[in-house]
Amino acid sequence: MIINLSDDQDEVKIPKKAITLLKKGLQAVAEIHGLSEKTEVSVSLVSDEVIHVLNKNYRGIDRPTDVLSFALDEAEEPEETGGPEQHLLGDIIISAETAVRQGKEYGHGLNRELVYLGVHSLLHLLGYDHMNRDDKVKMRAEEEKALQKISLSQEDLDQDGEDADPVHFAATVINLASEKKEGTEDNVAASKAGKKEKAERSGKKAEKKDRKLRMRQNDVKRMDKTTQGLLKKALKARENAYVPFSRFKVGAALLTKEGDVFTGCNIENSSFGLTVCAERTAIFTAASNGVRPGEISVLLVVADTDDVTSPCGACRQVMAEFEIPIVIMANIKGDVRKISLEELLPFGFKAADFS
Ligand code: THU
Repeated sequence: MIINLSDDQDEVKIPKKAITLLKKGLQAVAEIHGLSEKTEVSVSLVSDEVIHVLNKNYRGIDRPTDVLSFALDEAEEPEETGGPEQHLLGDIIISAETAVRQGKEYGHGLNRELVYLGVHSLLHLLGYDHMNRDDKVKMRAEEEKALQKISLSQEDLDQDGEDADPVHFAATVINLASEKKEGTEDNVAASKAGKKEKAERSGKKAEKKDRKLRMRQNDVKRMDKTTQGLLKKALKARENAYVPFSRFKVGAALLTKEGDVFTGCNIENSSFGLTVCAERTAIFTAASNGVRPGEISVLLVVADTDDVTSPCGACRQVMAEFEIPIVIMANIKGDVRKISLEELLPFGFKAADFS
């Protein structure tokens, strides 16, 4: 599973060990549930004030909480399209301050608390809940299974002579599509007399987080069937990338007006200049199968980049030659951006210039 973890707070120092264990705990859940390596989850550690704002906005509860799970609702996409192999589960937001506090309160320390909150939240994203007793027992057992895998289970702690862990359950899952409540960030600042400036800063951070969460949701919603299909194929082609030098795998997939899909990956060479990019491999494969300029409707390129992957200049020139009107830039996290050839290569060199 791909875990995008970021510590977005500076209120408490989270030791490296705790972060490592948190990731291990999440991977343990992924293993137990047979999640693919391409399943992705994003984890963010925030302050009490930031989680307070999110808790108020999304759940209408006007206080900080320990953890929030934001499920990316992909269920709306019709199943027969398959969708990309890569699956965005959603966002886990943990209050680092609350994790430290609860770790002390429950007597098992920060490590176990942080891992517990992460595991609990990931289980929510996988559909577990604790609305009734039966569900609660099931979820609790799943939590222990994962914690056991990394020797942080209650049994392990008991053996260490730690205090018993009062079973606690964290905030419930939030489905952005259905449960968004209109809220305000102002209340946080208002309620903290004397800490106004800090609260304002936190309010801004929360606002940013809030916007990001909604954008991710919208991105998934906006990903049409063609994009999903091309992304899936490009990711598959990317696995064949021959990249002994850069180790940077790129995949591409293009769709012809006839409805055929051709894919490509980057193929490197010890004489560096001979390296061929994924986009060109895809275009040349299509061309060797008889596809001619004007017959390609869209090309998608994907790599493991922070932002979407942008094609190099040489590929843009080849795209222009083949008159590919639309290019979809993507990354393995599932961010996608559509752009026209004109925007990609303004004033491009054309055969018409010399003929
Ligand atoms: N690469 C592509 O495949 N497409 C691009 O548009 C940019 C770069 C590859 C070439 C090389 O194998 C690696 O990325 C690093 O430059």
